[in-house]
Order: sequence, then structure tokens, then C-alpha cells
Amino acid sequence: MPKLTRREVLLSAGAIAVTGATLLPLGGRSSSAVPMPDAGHPAAGAHLADTVGAGAEPVAVATDPFTERMPVPATLQPSSTAGGVDVYELPIGHTDVDIIPGLRTPAMTYGGQFVGPTIRARTGRPAKVTFANQLTQPANVHLHGGHVPQASDGHPMDLIAPGGSREYQYPNSQRGATLWYHDHTHGLEADHVYRGLHGFYLIEDPAERRLDLPSGECDVPIMLRNAQFDETGAFVFGATETRTTILVNGKSQPYFPVAPRKYRFRLLNSALKHVFALHMGGATMTKIASDGGLLPAPIEVDELAISSGERVEIVVDFAAHRGGGPLYLYDGDTPILRFDVAPNRVRDRARVPDRLRTLPELGTATVERTVTMGFVDMSVRPPVGHVNGLPFDPNRVDVQVRQGATEIWNVVNADMDPAFLFDHPFHMHLVQFQVIGRDGGAPGPDDVGLKDTVYVAPKGSVRVQVTFDTPYTGKYVYHCHYLEHSALGMMATMEVVP
Ligand code: C2O
Ligand code: CU
Repeated sequence: MPKLTRREVLLSAGAIAVTGATLLPLGGRSSSAVPMPDAGHPAAGAHLADTVGAGAEPVAVATDPFTERMPVPATLQPSSTAGGVDVYELPIGHTDVDIIPGLRTPAMTYGGQFVGPTIRARTGRPAKVTFANQLTQPANVHLHGGHVPQASDGHPMDLIAPGGSREYQYPNSQRGATLWYHDHTHGLEADHVYRGLHGFYLIEDPAERRLDLPSGECDVPIMLRNAQFDETGAFVFGATETRTTILVNGKSQPYFPVAPRKYRFRLLNSALKHVFALHMGGATMTKIASDGGLLPAPIEVDELAISSGERVEIVVDFAAHRGGGPLYLYDGDTPILRFDVAPNRVRDRARVPDRLRTLPELGTATVERTVTMGFVDMSVRPPVGHVNGLPFDPNRVDVQVRQGATEIWNVVNADMDPAFLFDHPFHMHLVQFQVIGRDGGAPGPDDVGLKDTVYVAPKGSVRVQVTFDTPYTGKYVYHCHYLEHSALGMMATMEVVP
């Protein structure tokens, strides 16, 4: 018999029961409200075993794993569709939500839901969303991955005052893709997103329908993130970056009943700071899309990594698992979602064609730039995040790019203190790019397709090529998508000029 891998050992039921329990370490100490970057790989805090092993005290608050069903965030209904424009309204408010069974968690929400309602837009059909800020502090909304005019981008300084409201106009002229909307209030973005200001914005492309990919109930957005709670169920934020609870659509270790057929899962990492290392214990996942939509062709993978802000779409065919035991989605060694496959036979018309969508031509770059991201001096409290040696200044334009130009950006992780080397996922507003190199070599397996957010390892670098071919000009930001880092200044401004 072949030697069992660590994963296979975990597949035995006993190991899952122990590993799977969500224990909530006490988070009572709060000496500082300043988010402090911690050292090391962000996944280090995600494993319960590590936390317990390190002597953290588990408290009485525990949930039994896999007893709650994974919710699917409700789709927002337009208040009007007149004139071919979908009109929506969404309040931004303080809401107590159900995350831990038996406890209420004070959160910030879009539309009262901890994972905000899903907006399903369509390519070629504009939408207008009016957000009413019912918080006691400023807020705003960024459409991550959207090609939108500057006034609707949710620039970090362009805010909705408490009690105010604002209409964001989304042209939806881009191809189908899994986008998301989240808060981007400068300095507060990490706090706001951590407390729940995040939701899906799916652009459905009529051209995709002909492909017969899984649709309807079999097209499921899944938001992955982490969090830390105290014994009352309240979020712990600021005093620690240890976040031991993984939330899957807002629940810890939920289960999800599936029919024995194909499903399309739109995975989003909305964690402030975590790289999910996903696998299904050896079962095949067919990767079909990245941040900017469909890949040229499907790719069968056993595992995939998603850093903060990124999206990956996969198709999983549960037909082969009919009558078998449950399947799990794992983050590293931790099972985070259980799929229960129904025993009945079903007819499945969905398929994954060999060809999905061709990528736009790369073109020829006429400009090449180097963008460095990092902390210079970690002895300063709070530390200051830099891009090309400077912290974010909204009154400064860091780079000017010509509308329509094709450029290569060499993005370098440039932390200066060898004792504090972080990952820095790089995100650019307004456009998608293609990764053309990583760490001096070829792109990695997670770099395929159109991207707007990309993992950059400590001491690493990523080369991306981008064409600024949207109809929009103006000032947009690019930044580290560890939102605690952008809040500390790791962000800069590009101005697209005609
Ligand atoms: Cu998802 Cu500028 O952010
Ligand atoms: Cu960073």
C-alpha cells in the first residue's frame, strides 16, 4: 500500500473531527488599534493546530464542524430596468449578523448581509447602484476588476459622508468576469472590509451562455476569508493579525449539498491577508477562469493558490462521487467546506468545452516601469508602506500612462528589513493585465489568464503586461491588496491621460 500523504491521513473521519472544530481563542487584549503587519507567511495563522501548539488558549466558544449549511448570498433585484439600465439601491449599515451559532456579531454590511447581496450584471447592459451610507463614519465602494469611470471607481479619497448617498455608474462594457465590490475608504479600508463590506458583482456574458457551462443553481459564488472572534462573537481586529477562523460565505466549516453533476464555483479571497492553498484531497478541479474571466482553455488542477483580492473559477464534476463519501475543500491541511453528494442519478447537460475564450492580443509594450512595494523601517510604529520609496499621497501623481498604451510593469517585493518579509499581492484598478514573468522566470501555474491582482512573494517579482484600452481617463490607484498594507500607505496613483 502506498504511503499516505498528510492529506490522505486527514481524510480519515477522526482526524477531520478534531482538526475541524472551530475553537475561538480569546482576543481580549487590546493595547493598540494600529494594524501591525506580522512576519512570515500569512497562512501560518490559519491553522488551528499551529495556534494551539503555540500555547494560545482555546475558549469555550466552539462550533461543531459541518453542521451548518453554506449560504449562497442572495441576488440583488433591481428596482428598475427601464431603458435597459438596471437600477439598484443598497444601504451600507451597522448590522448584527449570525456567523457563530448562538452568538451575534456586530458587523458592517451592504444590504444587511455579511456577504453582501450578489449583483448579477450583464455585458453590454449598464447598471447604476445607489449606496446610502448609514454608518457613523465615511465609506465608499470600489468595484474591484471593473472598467469604470473615475467617479464610480471608489477612489480612496472619494467618500460617501455618513448619512449621504451616492450613485455609482457601472457600464458593464467588459467581458464576463467575477468581480467584487468592497469598501476603499483610505485608512479604514482594512477595518471596513474585515467587518463585512464585501460582496460579489458578477458580469454575465451572453457569449458565455453558448458554452453550456454549469449555470443557475450550479453557478455558485463562494467567498473565502478569515476572521478572529472573541467569546461574545465580536470581531477581534487591530490588536492581532492571528485569524484562526476561515469563513466560507460567512460560515465556519459549512456543508453544501450538491447533485451528482457539474458545478461552477466562483472563488474569491476577500481576506485582508491570507493565501488560500486550496485542494479537494486529490479530486480534480477544472480551472476555467481567473480575475478577468474565462481562460483560453480549461486546466485540470489538483491544487491552486488564491491570494487576497484574487478570483478563480473552477468546475467540479460530482458525478464520479455519487454514492461515495463526502468531499472536502481544504485550505492546506484544514477542511473548510464539505460537499454532500446526493445519491440519485441526474441528467447533466452542462459541459466544459475545450476552448473557452481567446485572450486579447498582448501587443507590443512601448513603456517599461518598475514598481516596488514594501516596508522600509519596521521599527517605526505604525510602519509606513511604500511604493517606489514613497507612502501614498493623494495629491501626487506617481505615473502617467497614455490611454491605449501597452506597458510592462515589473512589480518588485522590496521589503527592506530582513526580519520582516511579507507577501504583497499587487492590484491595479481599471484594467486587467497578463503575467509574463515571475521571479526572473516564466509565469507560475496560478498566473494564467487575465488578472488584476497577483501574488508577489517575499523578495520576489512579477512582470505584467497591460494595455490601458478602456474608454476612461483620470486618476486610479494601484496598491498592495493586503488592505492593512494599503491602509499604511502601500498605494500609489496612476493618471490615465488622453
Ligand atoms: Cu480590491 Cu483597490 O482594491
Ligand atoms: Cu503588502
